[in-house]
Amino acid sequence: MKVIAVRDYKEMSQTAAKTIIRLVKEKPDAVLGLATGGTVIGVYDELISDYARNETDYGHAHSVNLDEYVGLSSDHPQSYHSYMNEHLFQHINLPPEHCHVPQGDAEDPAQEAKQYDQLIAELDGVDLQLLGIGRNGHIGFNEPGTSFSSHTHLVELTASTREANARYFTSMNEVPTHAITMGIASILKSKRIVLLVSGEAKAAILAEVLQSDVTTSIPATVLKMHPDVTVIADQDALQVVR
Ligand code: F6R
Repeated sequence: MKVIAVRDYKEMSQTAAKTIIRLVKEKPDAVLGLATGGTVIGVYDELISDYARNETDYGHAHSVNLDEYVGLSSDHPQSYHSYMNEHLFQHINLPPEHCHVPQGDAEDPAQEAKQYDQLIAELDGVDLQLLGIGRNGHIGFNEPGTSFSSHTHLVELTASTREANARYFTSMNEVPTHAITMGIASILKSKRIVLLVSGEAKAAILAEVLQSDVTTSIPATVLKMHPDVTVIADQDALQVVR
C-alpha cells in the first residue's frame, strides 16, 4: 500500500479528485467505484467544481456504489441513492442510467446482490474504487469477521456502525439494521483502490491497519493483498502512526 500524507481534509479531497479526473480523461468510459459517508463528500465537491470550470466529460463513464441500506427506497432522503444524487450525480453529466447503486428495497436482496456482481462484471470491472474506512476497520459494510472471499451480499450492521450512522437519522430506531454491500472479493477485483482517511477519529484504526498483519478482524488490512492501493491520509488521521 502506498501512503500519501496530506495536510488536511481539503488536500485529501483535492488529491483524490485529481486522480479521478485524470482517469476519466485518459479513459472516458471508466467505471468509477464510489462510496458514501462524510469522508468522500469533499472529493465530490471538488469533482463538481472542476466540472463547472472545465466541463470534464462523464458522458461515457459509469459508476457503481459500494452499498445501500436495506429497506429504504431510492427516494428515501437517507438512502445512498439520495446521497449520491445530492452530492454528485445531479451536478455532473454522468448519465443517470450509468449510475448504479444497489437497490435497497429489492424484493429479494440476496438476488439483488448477486445481480450487482454480474452488473460489475458486465461493465468489465471497476477501474478505480474509492473507499472510506469505519472506526472498526470496515470497508463498504464489510464488518470485522467478513470472509475475504465474500461477493456482494446482505449484511446485518453492527451496533457501532449503526451508531456512527445515526447522525443522519432522527432516531436510532430509524437506522436500518441491514445493508447490501459489495463484498471484500468484489472490492479486491477493482483495478485500483484509493482509501481516504481523515480526522482524529480514524487515527487509531489507520495505525492498526498500517501496522497489523492481514486479518479478517480488521477488514481494511485485506487491502495489503491488492497490488494497487493508495491511502490518502491527512495529518490528524496519521497522528498515531508517527
Ligand atoms: C460508505 C461505506 C462506508 C464508509 C465508512 C466511513 O459507502 O461504504 O464503509 O466509507 O463507514 O464513513 P465516514 O466517511 O462517514 O466516516
